[in-house]
Amino acid sequence: MVTSDSPTQATIIWETDLPALGLVHLARVISSAPKTTPSPGPAVKVGNVEYLVDTVASFSEASQLTRHQLTISGLQPESEYIYVIQGDTPNGERVVSEPYLFKTAPRPGQGPVTFSFISDTRAGEERGERDYMGHNSSVLSRLTQDAYRRGAELMLADGDLIKGYTSDTEDFRLQLKGWKQSVAGFWRSRPIFTAMGNHEALSNVYDDGSPHGIQLDKWPYNEQSAEAVFADEFYNPVNGPQPSDPRRPTYQKNAYHFQYGPVLFICVNNNYWWTTNQAIPTYGGSPEGYIFEEQLSWFENVLTQAEANATVRYVVVFCQQVVFPCGGHMKDGMWWQGDNNVRAYSRKGQKLEPEKLGMIEVRNRFWKSMAQSTKVAAVLTGHEHSYHRTLIDQRTPVGLFPADDANKDGKLDQISANPDFVQPTWQITAGTGGAPYHAPEDSPWTPAVMSLQRGYLLFHADASRLSLKFISITGQVIDEVDDLMAVKKKVAK
Ligand SMILES: [Fe+2]
Repeated sequence: MVTSDSPTQATIIWETDLPALGLVHLARVISSAPKTTPSPGPAVKVGNVEYLVDTVASFSEASQLTRHQLTISGLQPESEYIYVIQGDTPNGERVVSEPYLFKTAPRPGQGPVTFSFISDTRAGEERGERDYMGHNSSVLSRLTQDAYRRGAELMLADGDLIKGYTSDTEDFRLQLKGWKQSVAGFWRSRPIFTAMGNHEALSNVYDDGSPHGIQLDKWPYNEQSAEAVFADEFYNPVNGPQPSDPRRPTYQKNAYHFQYGPVLFICVNNNYWWTTNQAIPTYGGSPEGYIFEEQLSWFENVLTQAEANATVRYVVVFCQQVVFPCGGHMKDGMWWQGDNNVRAYSRKGQKLEPEKLGMIEVRNRFWKSMAQSTKVAAVLTGHEHSYHRTLIDQRTPVGLFPADDANKDGKLDQISANPDFVQPTWQITAGTGGAPYHAPEDSPWTPAVMSLQRGYLLFHADASRLSLKFISITGQVIDEVDDLMAVKKKVAK
């Protein structure tokens, strides 16, 4: 992993089948070597290209392991390096990787950055490469390769990576392993940051006669919950909120933020501590789309700090559950057809109690914090398996609570605009990474663009603008925005 939070560091993570002492050989790239022999200095060949290098060094682990993680410090920001991994077993067996290239991140605020976004890569009811270990490998690998070729320096993978919904921890881990295999070509050179989707569910399941039974996040939470296993399988930043009740699952590596060049990325987990809907008031847990108070206030704090941080030019938020659905998930996401009764239940001491804020109140507070920031360029989501881009502003009918609940039953009876949504802000949904299609449906808000093609998002951020392309699996540019910040209102300094 490389980020601008520590631009002089890189962390390399790998696994071996047998316990082995890990070693990383590292060399800084000066330039491609001239086609003369012999080379004027030390050189390393990656594929067919020979590179002149300096500062060759080796870094070793202290003990024999199967899961390896080495953080290397003292690197130059925004520089290219070549690394080779070596593993030595106690029996004298040695494995050595191919040489791979990576680039360190720029200092905060520096450099243009190109990044990509993919979501809902899970498999449906198809066969062959379209369902390889629970994900659509055919689509995922093609989109990831295209992003690599077009220069994406990092990738956001916004959940529903795999089919999931399993009660077997090994099955869950194997599905994630399969997913990592499909993106390995990208990931060995450039970082991927993952979010949890509703499909990243690992549960204990009880038969109550319903089709899927009662599903409760697997326990003990500290090692068996979906959140804990996800954190064990992915190397994401560790700076998320603390659960207000330490008995609940962790936010570690499933809610986090990091800066890369001029962009601050915030990953929000709106699939935290999921329980089957009908069982929530009895056993506790959270519905799809819900965000607990502790994560909401953490998010608001991160945004406030970003507003004051001169090195942050743009903020990009990503979460799996769609905030304003347009087809496929009108009945959940963060909308639930305007039902504010939908909410999480958690224990206060021994007693199980509903959370204070309902779904519509949570959604409105979440969006308000972004619509009062001058830097949030877009909220990227998946969950709906289509591409849609929707501008939300003070005139968009979004629904207020309690003002729009005339008969006081908790459900919205009319849908008003929200005067608190001061800064127009884009919601961009692209759950088009391989899962089966969702058709458009009527929604109170109207997308500016919609497409049912499979594809991914490619962004380019520099000092003047943050631009976007939605690129289909055939390489066609389906949608393009030159400057996502152009919709923002001028704010007097
Ligand atoms: Fe989803």
